[in-house]
Amino acid sequence: MNTLPIAPLFARIVDDLATHGWSQQTIFIPTDLTTELAKECHKRAQCGELEPAAIGRGEAKIVHENIRGDHIQWLEAGDHHAVDRYLALIEQLRVAINQTLFLGLEDFESHFALYPPGAFYAKHLDRFRDDDRRVVSCVAYLNEQWLPGQGGELRMYLEDERIYDVAPQAGTLMVFMSAQWPHEVLPATRDRLSITGWFRRRA
Ligand code: OGA
Ligand code: MN
Repeated sequence: MNTLPIAPLFARIVDDLATHGWSQQTIFIPTDLTTELAKECHKRAQCGELEPAAIGRGEAKIVHENIRGDHIQWLEAGDHHAVDRYLALIEQLRVAINQTLFLGLEDFESHFALYPPGAFYAKHLDRFRDDDRRVVSCVAYLNEQWLPGQGGELRMYLEDERIYDVAPQAGTLMVFMSAQWPHEVLPATRDRLSITGWFRRRA
């Protein structure tokens, strides 16, 4: 087998996942890339390409703003060079996780998400009742100069309901085991942009 050494940034994430089941990185995405991705997300929002997010899947899929109020658009490879740059980073992470943790992660699905002021996502797990393909969740934040009073934290419910809040600051990447940690998105006073995605295993 031909395996390359894992770069330190990816190795740290893999290590954290193995020991805690989650990892927070504050400099995962270069500044020029978050700026470009934020610009692209805003542009798509202005063109009306983002749609109210639904919960559940297939027949059970339904829009419920009292559960989740973000607007999303699924990403496609080849859509935009900044999106491709992000997906290339994520691909390196997928390979690093598989090399070490043997989770059999096969692909990655992701979407832009824009939470307008006041929108939130109530406490949930990232796993559908009828589909357990999502194994690892990855959220990349795109908001420059997020200030403490602006809300919009990702609130993680860790062991013993220990609360851990993550500010959606540009450059931060939050990675966690999808079936393990309940979490919610708190309302913010400004638009809150991210790319949310999931590494999936074979059905
Ligand atoms: C989700 C989610 C977290 C965030 O989309 O499932 O939990 O911080 N997002 O945007
Ligand atoms: Mn979630």
